Formats: sequence, structure tokens, C-alpha cells
Amino acid sequence: MTDLPDSKPGRAHANAQRVIDFRSDNVASASPEIIAAMLEANTDTATPYGDDQLSAMLNDRFSEVFEAKVTVFPIATGTAANALALSALTPPYGAIYCHSAAHIHTSEAGATELLTGGAKLIPLEGDGFRLHASALANAVATAGIGIRNRSQPAAVSLTQATEFGTVYRLDEIAAIAEVARSHRLKIHMDGARFANALVTLGCSPAAATWRVGVEVLSFGCSKNGGLNADAIVVFNPDLVEDLSYRIRRSGHTWSKMRFAAAQLLAYVQGDLYLRSARRANGLAARIAANIAGIPGVGFAAPVEANEVYLTLPEHKIDHLIKNGIQFLRRAPRLIRLVCRFDGSEEDVDHFIATLKVLE
Ligand SMILES: Cc1ncc(COP(=O)(O)O)c(C=O)c1O
Repeated sequence: MTDLPDSKPGRAHANAQRVIDFRSDNVASASPEIIAAMLEANTDTATPYGDDQLSAMLNDRFSEVFEAKVTVFPIATGTAANALALSALTPPYGAIYCHSAAHIHTSEAGATELLTGGAKLIPLEGDGFRLHASALANAVATAGIGIRNRSQPAAVSLTQATEFGTVYRLDEIAAIAEVARSHRLKIHMDGARFANALVTLGCSPAAATWRVGVEVLSFGCSKNGGLNADAIVVFNPDLVEDLSYRIRRSGHTWSKMRFAAAQLLAYVQGDLYLRSARRANGLAARIAANIAGIPGVGFAAPVEANEVYLTLPEHKIDHLIKNGIQFLRRAPRLIRLVCRFDGSEEDVDHFIATLKVLE
């Protein structure tokens, strides 16, 4: 399912006393801990382009978090992280398999195609908005390997948590990785909401990534309390040098890297990323638990992370908008609510009560 061109935020009624914002986790503030870390970094001079002390700590710190030697590249946006990471996994004539709802396919204006020099995204269907190993196996089997007029299978990209707030189980990723390995495909994970997925899985970052075959991760931070930094975390050391040049030549090597590094270090310090995601997921679960059974209201996807997709009649959608509830409309009768680390139980309860009034 793609964003509709007319998918606009719900607008608060002019007289509404309160506005409740479920449009996205991108609307969130930055965590106080992250702001504090940036202020602390804002002293004295520092060597630019990643040769500062904070940036130097990133690889070691994230290697502890992931229980493996990793290389971390701070990147300004999730889109750039995805496109750059994928550019290191495919030749320009390669095929990248993803779910049809994948952000790289629906919402990044061809960034992956641009930065890979023209690799082809192959969208596949899959229940629960997740790619399935069998669909990948079928697609690769009919790809035409070795036929010169066909794109050649090169990589697979999984979004964790998915665009519809569902979460891949570890055995599902392992099964995909097995298919990928047998055809020498590389595996990328779009982890714009990686922390939210981790909280749901209740496993370690290592278990959710390299131990099930992920070679490179777009590690989200901005949506969950960062100010303006995400990262590429590389597990496969063979990718690092190539990627470092790709990042530089596409203009993604920050001059004042220390401020991005400060955000990422603060984000994992004391498991802030998990605490923030736990809060956001908890709010989504509160919505799900309290609206189940309201006549005419259905779940378009199971609520497994911090997003709630609902189907409901247009008059109920209008009623929510009139009462100052903001959200995105994804299709006729389909809305998306996203819970944030800085959201409140009060707002969630107000939404539930507003929806119930029309029962
Ligand atoms: C699943 C997913 N991946 C990637 C991105 C891209 O992030 P950005 O908007 O920072 O480019 C988003 C943004 O909403 C997203 O939801």
C-alpha cells in the first residue's frame, strides 16, 4: 500500500480545545538526554568529518550494543541510510527484493534506484506486510539468473518494524536469510523503527540482526528521540571501505560529525532507545486493547509496535478530525496512528473516548 498523494494530516477543528497528534513519530520532540548530550558536545573545537573524539567512540560503543565488531556511519535521514546501504549491496544491474509496502519502494522517490546507479526494486507480496521466504525463493527462481536482459538478484531489504507496525519474528528472518544465502543475495534491514521491533521481540540487538544474517542495518534514531541523526550499522566488514566512499561522494559525511555522534551515543546510553520505544509501543498497545470491539472499527494490521492502522467509516474519521485528533489517512476508510516516546496516556485515552462516543 502506498501513500496516497492526498494523504494529508487530519486538521484540528478551529474551536477544538486540544490537538492530539498521532500523525507520525517524526513529529516527536527530541529526548532531553539527547539534547543534553548535544549541549555537552557544544564546547571547544573538534576535528571535523568524523575525526573527533565522540565519533571515534561510536564503533566501540555500538560494537558493545551489537556484541560484534561493527562500523557505524551517522547519516542524516533514513532514506539516505537505506539508499546508501543498498548501494553497497548491489551492482547497478542488480535486483533488490522487498515487500510491496516497503518505504524504499513507496516513499523514497527512487533514492535507492538513484544511489545504486539503477538497480531495480522488486516488490513482493506477503501477509502481515512482511516478506516471506517462499515468496523470495519463487521470485529468485524466476528471475532469469544469467540472462543478460534481466536484472540480476543481488539483495533483499526487510523493514523492521514494518511500515504497518508489524514485526518479523526471528525465524522468519532466518528463513529469508537461508534463501538469500543460497542465491548469494545480501541482506539489508530498514530499521527506522528498529528499537520498537526489538522491544516487541524482547531479544538482543545481535539476535535481531547479524545472528539471523543481516549484513547492514539502517538504524533509526530520529523517530524515537533523536534530533536529526540516523545511522548505517555495518556487520559485514567487506562492505565498509566501499560504503565510506559512497557516503562521502553523495554528500553524507557531516563536517560537524560530533553532534550526530553525540545523539547516537546518548540514544543507546542506558538503553534510552529501548526505554523510549517501550513507551511508544505501550501507548499503541493501550489503544489496541481499548478499541477492540467498537462497531465498525477494525484493525488493518496487528498492533505489534508503535503504529495502529484502523479501518473505520468516514463519519467516524470526520468525528475524530473535528475533535482535534490528528492522523494520516492512507486510503478511503483507512487511517494510521503512530505513538511516540513523548506521547501521553492522557492523549491516548482521549482518542479512545472520542472514538467510543459514536459507538
Ligand atoms: C520504515 C521507514 N523507513 C525509512 C524512512 C525514511 O526516513 P526519513 O524520512 O528520515 O528519510 C521512514 C520514514 O518515515 C520509514 O517509515
